[in-house]
Amino acid sequence: MTAPVPVPLQGPATEHLHVENLTVTHQGPGGEVRAVDGVSLTVAPGEALVVLGESGSGKSTLARTVLGLPGRTARVTGHVRLSGTDLLTLDERALTAVRGRRVGYVPQDPDTALDPLRRVGAQVAEVLLRHRVADGRRAARQAVPALLESVGLTAPDRIARSHPHQLSGGQRQRAAVALALACAPGLLVADEPTTALDALVRAQVLDLFAGLLGERGIALLLVTHDLGAARRIGHRVAVMRHGRIVTTGPTDRVLTTPEHPYAAALVAARPGGVR
Ligand SMILES: Nc1ncnc2c1ncn2[C@@H]1O[C@H](COP(=O)(O)OP(=O)(O)OP(=O)(O)O)[C@@H](O)[C@H]1O
Ligand SMILES: [Mg+2]
Repeated sequence: MTAPVPVPLQGPATEHLHVENLTVTHQGPGGEVRAVDGVSLTVAPGEALVVLGESGSGKSTLARTVLGLPGRTARVTGHVRLSGTDLLTLDERALTAVRGRRVGYVPQDPDTALDPLRRVGAQVAEVLLRHRVADGRRAARQAVPALLESVGLTAPDRIARSHPHQLSGGQRQRAAVALALACAPGLLVADEPTTALDALVRAQVLDLFAGLLGERGIALLLVTHDLGAARRIGHRVAVMRHGRIVTTGPTDRVLTTPEHPYAAALVAARPGGVR
C-alpha cells in the first residue's frame, strides 16, 4: 500500500492575528523590564506586517509571545487572538498543537530551530508526524524533499540527509524556514529570518515569503531591522521603541515620508537600506 503523500503546501484555513494591549514584563538583573508595553496590532490573511525597531526595543519578545513563548519568568497581560482564540488562555498542550501547525515560527537564530544532533530531513518529517499532517513515517519522509525544494534548497535529498552543521548558514536558515512552513500554517512569525544571509539569498527568501502571501494567503509577522526587507514585502510596518509601537501604517507612507521623528531617524540612519 502506498501511503498518501500529504499536501503540506496547500494551506488549510487562513488565520487572522489580533494582538490587543499586550504587555510583557521580564525580570532582568536590574529589576523589571517592560519589554512589550501595550502593543496592539493586526495581521490579516495575505498580509505582511513588518515590525521594525532598534535592538532591545522588544521585537523578539513580541514575536515569542505571539507563539505563547514569552519566557518562564515573563508576566504577560493582554490578548493574542488567532482567528478568535486567545492563545494566552491556552494550556501548554493546546498551545503545542497550535505552534508549528497553525503558526509557523522562524526564530532569530536558526540554530535554535534545528536540533544539531539530528538530520534535517528527520526533523522536518517529525513535525509533519507530530501534527498528523503526514499519514505515517513513510509519507512524512516522502514529503520532505518537496518541502526543502519549496524553500529554494537545491539537492534536497542530500540536504535531508545532512546534519545542520554540514550546511551553510544560508542553507540552515532556509531549513529553519522549511521547518516552520512544513505544516502549512496560516500565520508565519519570522524573527530576523534573513539577517545572516547574503544579499542575493536574502532577496530569494523574501520573495519566497511574498509568494506564500500571494498564493496561500498566509499572514506574515516579520521582525527585522532591515529596511530593505520591509520595503520589499511589507504591506504595513510598525516601528517599535522601548516596547511601544511609536508609528504604524502603510510601508510607503511610514518609510518614504516618515511623520514620526523616530521613524525618520531610522530611515536616515540607513540610507543604503531603503530603495
Ligand atoms: N528572557 C529575558 N529576561 C530578561 N530580560 C529580557 C529577556 N528577553 C528580553 N529581555 C529584555 O527585554 C528587552 C527587549 O528585548 P528583545 O529581545 O525583545 O529586543 P529586540 O527588539 O528583539 O532586540 P534585537 O534587535 O537585538 O534582537 C531588552 O531590554 C532585553 O534585555
Ligand atoms: Mg530580537
